[in-house]
Amino acid sequence: MDYYQLTIDRKSTRDFKEKDVPEKLLEQIKEYYGVCKRLVPEIKTELKLIDPDNSPMMNGCVGYKDYLIQAPCYLLILSEDKEHYLENAGFMGEDMVLKLTDLGLDSCWLTVNDSAKLADRLNIKDGLVPAALVAFGYEKAEADVSPRLDIINPSNVNLKARTGYVAPKLYVEDSIYSEDMGISGNPEILHAYTDLYKGLISACCAPSFLNRQPYRFIIKGGKLILVSLPDAETGENDAALNIGIVMLNFCRTLTERSGVYGNWILGTPDCDLDLPEGGKVAAYFNI
Ligand SMILES: Cc1cc2nc3c(=O)[nH]c(=O)nc-3n(C[C@H](O)[C@H](O)[C@H](O)COP(=O)(O)O)c2cc1C
Repeated sequence: MDYYQLTIDRKSTRDFKEKDVPEKLLEQIKEYYGVCKRLVPEIKTELKLIDPDNSPMMNGCVGYKDYLIQAPCYLLILSEDKEHYLENAGFMGEDMVLKLTDLGLDSCWLTVNDSAKLADRLNIKDGLVPAALVAFGYEKAEADVSPRLDIINPSNVNLKARTGYVAPKLYVEDSIYSEDMGISGNPEILHAYTDLYKGLISACCAPSFLNRQPYRFIIKGGKLILVSLPDAETGENDAALNIGIVMLNFCRTLTERSGVYGNWILGTPDCDLDLPEGGKVAAYFNI
């Protein structure tokens, strides 16, 4: 998969055709789940596909304001409830979303507002909990791309509008809170670090709850540090999913472009950091 291109091409779709996803593609999706990228591989997870016959059971417990987007299929990741399980589910879920994009399918993440109710309705057992939910299928050709009220952009940053896309995104330069590579004084330098730059572009294209993108990066001592920002709109679970999603986008593009395998380290690096107000280090990556 060309992750860089896929992260740029992907966008949320909320208007799906009433066209089934062919069985052959569903098989490919199930198969891919077995090898999709994991952040914490020790955490046991399971994939559940939900069709329109069963989707009404999700009414009233998922989606913005409990509004369930109608789609021909839904992908639900069930997980053990262990430390970082939601970051892991976000990471895996986004890898699945990019696979769907690669297969020519459109998708939209859906928030889980009441995980216990959803588990009960879907009769989920074996100590697993619903962790990540994505609607998918084929976008209606005439889908509306006018700005939507359910996308709330932060007011204090510049966002890049993208042709044909509803949601504008953080500029790479604005996503970096501080750095020690001389980029702030000379932003052109960033372009010389092609792989890092592309990884950051993928990170900035990541989907997030209400498109808030409540995270920033610090580059220090050869490390890219991911800082999660407080956000009044985003709940704890969606914040953790956001973090997993942005980590997947960055690390897959960087790894694929540089050919050097790397992964995020969940924790704080051993150095002094000047964090933005209320910011918390989520993870770091040796670059
Ligand atoms: C954790 C999470 C939960 C989301 N929940 C919903 C949702 O319930 N309903 C919805 O329409 N979009 C939902 N979205 C999609 C975001 O609104 C969308 O990613 C964001 O507006 C950016 O647009 P883009 O995906 O086109 O880049 C969610 C996204 C994330 C990451």
